[in-house]
Amino acid sequence: MKTTFSALFLAAGIIAIPGPSGAASLMDWGRHVAKAGNGKPGGTACMECHRLDGGGMPSIGAPRISGQPRQYIAREIREVKEGKRYGPVMAGVVQNLSPRDIRAVALYYSRAKSPKLPDVGPSDPALVAEGKHIATRGFWKKNIPACVQCHGPNGYGVPPLFPYIAGQNRTYLLRQLMAYAFLKRQDDPEGLMRGIARRLTMAQRKAVAEYFSSLKPPVRDVP
Ligand code: HEC
Ligand code: HEC
Repeated sequence: MKTTFSALFLAAGIIAIPGPSGAASLMDWGRHVAKAGNGKPGGTACMECHRLDGGGMPSIGAPRISGQPRQYIAREIREVKEGKRYGPVMAGVVQNLSPRDIRAVALYYSRAKSPKLPDVGPSDPALVAEGKHIATRGFWKKNIPACVQCHGPNGYGVPPLFPYIAGQNRTYLLRQLMAYAFLKRQDDPEGLMRGIARRLTMAQRKAVAEYFSSLKPPVRDVP
């Protein structure tokens, strides 16, 4: 009971006027969860790792999430919560998020805008060049399609299904490719990413991670 009251109290203090459409208050609640958590035990503020503007934290490999499609953000959170997606850090954070909390933070971060944050250490131009080749032309000898065929021109994503990967930090990108390749992350539809990540060599995974992290993230005005 105590926790319910504190959650209500927090919500009342933050949500100014619950407008009839609900969209404005959902946005406000999303920002609140991002900034301070939802007030329930374990309800960590997202900004501790993703920043309030959604730029992520390259030093710990926490992903950029600003401007990702809201359906994608919500789906990933639900999947981590249900144990369907590999997410060792997120698993502990999302357990007490309600469906409304998830809709709210997904809306908030899908509309957040953040500059590209510098990666840790310099990038390697030879790897970037190799990565660009695979990303834009594929590697047909091993039946690997060009990444941009699904992730869109420049890796800007194709909402709602295909996340952007351009401008994402390289630590996160490489970790996800490893997680798909070694079957820790298994939530990708039809196993599309698992197959591709497994067929890439370790050097090629590094190269594509290096290439996409060297690009600018998309700037999108989400309606
Ligand atoms: C303690 C650090 C931390 C906190 C707090 C945190 N995250 Fe994360 N988040 C991560 C890390 C690290 C990953 C990568 C997966 C993993 O390791 O769990 C991630 C992954 C994600 C993803 C998947 C992104 C993608 O591109 O697939 C989303 C969406 C996300 N977090 C949203 C949130 C939201 C919303 C909150 C607040 C309710 C939150 N996170 C709180 C560290 C954190
Ligand atoms: C056939 C379509 C397809 C192709 C080609 C493809 N991807 Fe993906 N990729 C997806 C889908 C769909 C997802 C989201 C899957 C999920 O929800 O887990 C994804 C997710 C990812 C992610 C995780 C993003 C995140 O925010 O967590 C990375 C990294 C990635 N792809 C990299 C690549 C790279 C690098 C290539 C080229 C070598 C590539 N992809 C080619 C369909 C594709």
